[in-house]
Amino acid sequence: MHELMNTNDQGHLTIGGLDTTYLAKKYGTPLFVYDVNKIRENARAFVDTFEHYGVKAQVAYASKAFSSIAMLQVAKQEKLSLDVVSQGELYTALQADFPVEKIHLHGNNKNVAELEMAVKYNIGCVVIDNFHEIELLKDILANYQTEMDVLLRVTPGIEAHTHDYILTGNEDSKFGFDLANGQAEEAFQRLQEIDTIHVKGLHCHIGSQIFETDGFIMAVRRLFDALAGWKKTYHYVPQVLNLGGGFGIRYTDEDQPLALDGYVEALVTEIKLQVDQLEMDFPEIWIEPGRAIVGNTAVTLYTIGSKKAIPGVRDYIAVDGGMTDNIRPALYQAKYEAVVANKVNMPPSTTASIAGKCCESGDMLIWDVPLPSVEPGDILAVFSTGAYGYSMSSHYNRFPKAAVVFVEDMQDKIVIQRETYQDVVKNDLSYE
Ligand code: LLP
Repeated sequence: MHELMNTNDQGHLTIGGLDTTYLAKKYGTPLFVYDVNKIRENARAFVDTFEHYGVKAQVAYASKAFSSIAMLQVAKQEKLSLDVVSQGELYTALQADFPVEKIHLHGNNKNVAELEMAVKYNIGCVVIDNFHEIELLKDILANYQTEMDVLLRVTPGIEAHTHDYILTGNEDSKFGFDLANGQAEEAFQRLQEIDTIHVKGLHCHIGSQIFETDGFIMAVRRLFDALAGWKKTYHYVPQVLNLGGGFGIRYTDEDQPLALDGYVEALVTEIKLQVDQLEMDFPEIWIEPGRAIVGNTAVTLYTIGSKKAIPGVRDYIAVDGGMTDNIRPALYQAKYEAVVANKVNMPPSTTASIAGKCCESGDMLIWDVPLPSVEPGDILAVFSTGAYGYSMSSHYNRFPKAAVVFVEDMQDKIVIQRETYQDVVKNDLSYE
């Protein structure tokens, strides 16, 4: 049963205490509804656990999971830092008046404009990803006569997804510098020659939707293997270790994630062990959760329309959204749970598959879900759509993008307006 599964006296699904059928009627569908208290709870679970261990930390919300001005304002209120990977994400952060010193810029192909924006607004840190960017940043800093803190992104040779992690000597990844083949050290040496760039520490990110701590622990060990050498050779001691994001959440019963404090505890314990061995000061720990902050905090509401029953094969029930607001089932075979929001207490009487309305057979949201008997106009609620739903949405078939509503203290507030058809054609120019 999903943690956002709450009902009112009418047997309707509620979110943050509000009736989802009321929200669907008020704002239309498809509609993303976020429970802001849940976002705050998730953020605090990370922040409080670091505090509990007395460890200086930055919990940087990975805004790729869901970026909007309102979302970044909540992140700011919760004292999070921010991971941005593009000028668009950085621009959104600036519009949300996010404290610049807590913004970290990522990207495997940062261009001059992005780096210039980072330097101009004096953001907290650039995560260096490749040799090309080092020279670009050096020149920009010279032009602006200023300096920049950076982390060096390394690939530790560990790739983790859910329960699996793969150890490799040379990681086949487009991100960062390889530790095993010496490129990380080469980049480090180059950065040390540039006196306007300060290497605050190392960064690694081993994957996403990870349920176990082993991968993170292996990554920490690999970082410290390198750091042991750099301490000897360069007398270098990092101020910061950034272990990236990837903390898994529950979408369906198949997912059994750890409590958020479990990940933090594992990281702190292993890092403590390593610094004691190397007789180093305990570094600041930075992490970059995206999905774990917002994933389980939202539902998407759809209106049910057509049905197609294929005897002996399958029943299809179509909704008024689909891969345009949630590409994850089509792209990753991601699984979701759903209920009929206006019939939550009705026992399931059938199994049906939820189809989107895009002109594409692969546009399916959920395969074979138990449902009560449904009619056109019923509201379907899909759980755990808070991460990588809206942020990966598209205009395929020229569907306007959905609206986003925040609910907190029994109040609903629209935070991203539904697009109009004028929005859909706004960049089109006539050829007549
Ligand atoms: N930090 C870095 C450097 C990352 O590349 C990512 C995610 C994160 C943090 C945040 O990871 P999270 O905590 O959200 O797992 N679109 C995919 C996920 C792609 C994640 C890419 N990088 C999905 O929908 O599952």
